[in-house]
Amino acid sequence: MKSLLITLTAMGILVGASIGVHADPAQDLQAFQDFFRNKFPDVPFDEFSNGLFALPAAKEQRAQWEQVMKLPPYEFALERGQAFWEENNLASCFKNAGRNIAQRYPYWDERTNMVRTIELDINECLKRKGQSPIENMKNGTMAEVAAYMKSLSRGQRVQISISTPAARDAYEEGRAFFWARRGQLNLSCATCHVDNAGKRLGGKIVSAALGHGVGYPAYRSEWSELGTLHWRYAACNLQVRAAPFKAQSRQYRRLQYYQTYLQQGLPLTAPSQRP
Ligand code: HEC
Repeated sequence: MKSLLITLTAMGILVGASIGVHADPAQDLQAFQDFFRNKFPDVPFDEFSNGLFALPAAKEQRAQWEQVMKLPPYEFALERGQAFWEENNLASCFKNAGRNIAQRYPYWDERTNMVRTIELDINECLKRKGQSPIENMKNGTMAEVAAYMKSLSRGQRVQISISTPAARDAYEEGRAFFWARRGQLNLSCATCHVDNAGKRLGGKIVSAALGHGVGYPAYRSEWSELGTLHWRYAACNLQVRAAPFKAQSRQYRRLQYYQTYLQQGLPLTAPSQRP
């Protein structure tokens, strides 16, 4: 982490990309995806779903990853998720028995006036069945069940709608979070995942923000287990020495809503393996 600090300090004032300043989600989307298509002209669009492994700088890591994926390290966790899903008949709570619907998550729910994620809807389903909801939203059972549910939509293309003023407000709040500098290192998400995407920071290659979330829950070697996207968000907040928020907090759900909207059209690859 020390080396990361030094790298970024040495880079001096980081340029804020102009793609953060549009007024309208559709324009944001266009500018955001164009930015990455231009930055990485040799990366086919769908490849961005593979996170940092899509990027030219990660050729070596990609070769290792392809080996690892011959026997994905999350297989047993996924089986546990499936067992939980079936034991509790979670399919009965979801449209189409939970198949091919994850591409519409997270969504703005007018009735509960909040951004709803797969994790929240899984817990809602458990409650409806008189079961106690899962408390740990970072890893363990929730990560496993959410991974299983998302695997039922593997390959579906992200399709997020922002159709009401309240949904738009949630999106704006997520956007502000993404572009705000924070922590002792005073860096925004965009500093790393837009301005420095594909570069090496503190020995790690940084992924492009295009692709974020579509592979989560992910099995990270650093965790040695499956974890949710919000756990990853917390790790990124901690990296800049900012206080993280809780998994499923309003802040992270809105951040996820903003980020996922920008993935429009990318295929879901969850669960995935990441460093
Ligand atoms: C200091 C640089 C830095 C900052 C700031 C930062 N991240 Fe990260 N982030 C990383 C690194 C390094 C990784 C691990 C390699 C990778 O996948 O990018 C990562 C991984 C991720 C991933 C996983 C990508 C995948 O597909 O596996 C997501 C999502 C993410 N960051 C989102 C965010 C968000 C949202 C913020 C702002 C709250 C943020 N990051 C701030 C450096 C940063």
